[in-house]
Amino acid sequence: MSEGPQPASHDVLLIGGGLAGLRAAVAIAEANPALDVAVVSKVYPMRSHSVSAEGGAAGAIAEDDSLDEHAHDTVSGGDWLGDQDAIEAFIAEAPRELLQLEHWGCPWSRQPDGRIAVRPFGGMKNKRTWFAADKTGFHMLHALFQTTLKYEELVRYDEWFVTRLLVDDGRVQGVVAVELMSGEVQAIHAKAVVLATGGCGKVFPFTTNANINTGDGMSLAYRAGAPLKDMEMVQYHPTGLPFTGILITEAARAEGGYLVNKDGYRYLQDYDLGTPSPTPVLRSMELGPRDRLSQAFVHEVEKGRTADSPYGPVVHLDLRHLGAKVIEAKLPMVRELCLRYERIDPVTELVPVRPVVHYMMGGVHTDIHGATPLAGLYAAGETACVSINGANRLGSNSLPECLVFGARAGRAAAEYVASVGPSSAGIAAQVRDERRRVEALIGSDGTERVSALRDEMQATMEEAAGIYRTGPGMSKGADALGELQERMSGVRVGDSSRTFNTELVAALELANMLDIAQTMLHTGLQREESRGAHQRLDFPVRDDDRFLTHLLAYRDADGSARTEQLPVTITRWPPGERKYGR
Ligand code: FUM
Repeated sequence: MSEGPQPASHDVLLIGGGLAGLRAAVAIAEANPALDVAVVSKVYPMRSHSVSAEGGAAGAIAEDDSLDEHAHDTVSGGDWLGDQDAIEAFIAEAPRELLQLEHWGCPWSRQPDGRIAVRPFGGMKNKRTWFAADKTGFHMLHALFQTTLKYEELVRYDEWFVTRLLVDDGRVQGVVAVELMSGEVQAIHAKAVVLATGGCGKVFPFTTNANINTGDGMSLAYRAGAPLKDMEMVQYHPTGLPFTGILITEAARAEGGYLVNKDGYRYLQDYDLGTPSPTPVLRSMELGPRDRLSQAFVHEVEKGRTADSPYGPVVHLDLRHLGAKVIEAKLPMVRELCLRYERIDPVTELVPVRPVVHYMMGGVHTDIHGATPLAGLYAAGETACVSINGANRLGSNSLPECLVFGARAGRAAAEYVASVGPSSAGIAAQVRDERRRVEALIGSDGTERVSALRDEMQATMEEAAGIYRTGPGMSKGADALGELQERMSGVRVGDSSRTFNTELVAALELANMLDIAQTMLHTGLQREESRGAHQRLDFPVRDDDRFLTHLLAYRDADGSARTEQLPVTITRWPPGERKYGR
């Protein structure tokens, strides 16, 4: 086996080219232009999943809004599991970040008088969601990506897949990555690494997430000894297209769309989400929080009030009363997606929808500066759990989270590397080990197919960790995952070519997802209560005495997960009841 070329070396490596990773890159370049910074991304940056965000980004700027109200909505929306110091910092910095993005070229939609337009979003008291029609992620990422281009010294490793963190002397010292074009397995040394690889929706069969969202950063951190936090908190978005899982943005309901059951009835008025109204009412009905709306769907199924579709039960989103003009101006992508993927025109027809896995509230445990407990390792965006989202993220908080905590993690990493020496000799053996692991997979002739194992994992997770869970269900799922882990050792990667070996990448991603799935069930079993997105039929109430606490999952030497508790930081909002409607 070749030793490979001399490793490249940088001060800071950013893993992931989406909003959080690129925002961190710019923050470092601004903090210390002398630093040598590189972005490593599995895909070309403009193909990162941030590009597909639709509805908008929250930041309190409207005259009738306030930072305190945004903070309180976020705390209560997250069922008091969010850390309030992090939430306060986030809320204060979000509007500044969004304005900064405008200066970098993001074309925010505007009111007729030229002021920034804001729309209502689920679980928020006031209108505070900035948007660029319903292509917000595309415009934000484009503005940020083009901004990075002016920093000519920024190095990019596009289409490189990171498979391992190098850790020696108690600190992160770089990564091992596969250059997908050549198939070479190479080390890249760095004094600090920022993980920003997005979420892991592909652990489930039905998700709004892109195929690239396989929890790579979470798994890298976990295997390197850094804990994952609150992994049991999985968000279902109430409106995905039934076959593909493609997101129909909450903005469709913010602009006045209704959800109706098979009888044409606005069923959400029967649930604890506020009063019905002929026009949208903030924080009520269709603009309730996502966890409650997804739970209401399950109850409609139980009552036999959903419609049948080839892909299971659905309800319908009714946009017809908005008219073609509003739909074309505010929701052009919704119309395009419905036409392309369902052959339905929302101007004249009902759109079938059902809840779909959308977002991970949990992730790599970090402090308020994006630092993990492992020296030199930082995380930001959906990969990380700071935590501002608690047990249920409010829609439109994630895009500004990428900006605020991407910038914070970048600045913290820039400061850290100033005091760090060169890499130690110990990492050479780790590079050899990792090269051996990856190369052994290429052309391997095991009997287990990646696609079959992945299907089984996804079915297991849907069954065990869906909108409602039980202890026995999660235990059974954990056993099934254990068997899948064992079968992974016999996995077959029939493709022995080096160039863009997608079968190899799929096998490596599957190994990552199995790690992540295991932590979700492990902490889910430990949390014997119902809070936000974690609804247990066997423990149906929130239990602040025992569980007003984060759950940290560590990987033990034998590969099993171990849990520790970490108190939630409460600053100004003691735990209370979540109330919706006015
Ligand atoms: O519905 C949406 O547009 C999703 C937004 C979000 O998850 O923040």
